[in-house]
Amino acid sequence: MNQAYILVLYYSSKGTTKTLAEAIANGVEQAGMEARLRTVPAVSTVAESRESAIPASGDLYCSRDDLANCSGLALGSPTRFGNMAAALKYFIDGSINEWLNGELIGKPGGVFTSTGSMHGGQESTLLSMMLPLLHHGMLIVGLPYSEEALHRTRAGGTPYGPSHLNDTKLTDDERELAVAFGRRLATLAQTNHSALVN
Ligand SMILES: Cc1cc2nc3c(=O)[nH]c(=O)nc-3n(C[C@H](O)[C@H](O)[C@H](O)COP(=O)(O)O)c2cc1C
Repeated sequence: MNQAYILVLYYSSKGTTKTLAEAIANGVEQAGMEARLRTVPAVSTVAESRESAIPASGDLYCSRDDLANCSGLALGSPTRFGNMAAALKYFIDGSINEWLNGELIGKPGGVFTSTGSMHGGQESTLLSMMLPLLHHGMLIVGLPYSEEALHRTRAGGTPYGPSHLNDTKLTDDERELAVAFGRRLATLAQTNHSALVN
């Protein structure tokens, strides 16, 4: 049996959302769990064209087993017109077998995003990304206001999940909230939710 892990699954075209994913993974590891960083291929405008199975660089593409066997999930996407990117939605739309088998029921799941502008739709993206997690029966995890950085931040970081305003690197508050989110997911994943499974 493989070691338990939190799947940190993201799409990032310019690398910004990836920096949040790495901070969340850091928090997961602080709580004593493995963080499995995985991404998804970009979608093509030519339906028949196929990406190679292994990306040229960076994190591996997420396999169906990576998703089915995780103990918890952090799902991240850049904001695209107030919503998640098509590449991530495409991957999620392919999760019908995991849904039929109830693989994610009772597991903690949460979401993160990055935007180009302050009021460009972080919250709409985060809220809409929660919907497929609810359909999968996951327990939605956000960030509580006991996190002091949530009061201080003048950039990203929301009660709905970590976020980043993409003008420079992560701010200290954004990073602190992403790490806290990873810790929280991992801590919850180590709590037994078997009563909620099926
Ligand atoms: C097609 C497209 C749509 C976008 N829509 C929004 C948007 O609605 N609001 C916003 O603030 N930023 C928007 N952006 C900017 C990205 O969300 C932002 O640059 C993000 O940080 C990129 O993340 P990445 O580096 O992980 O790819 C959009 C970018 C693209 C390419």
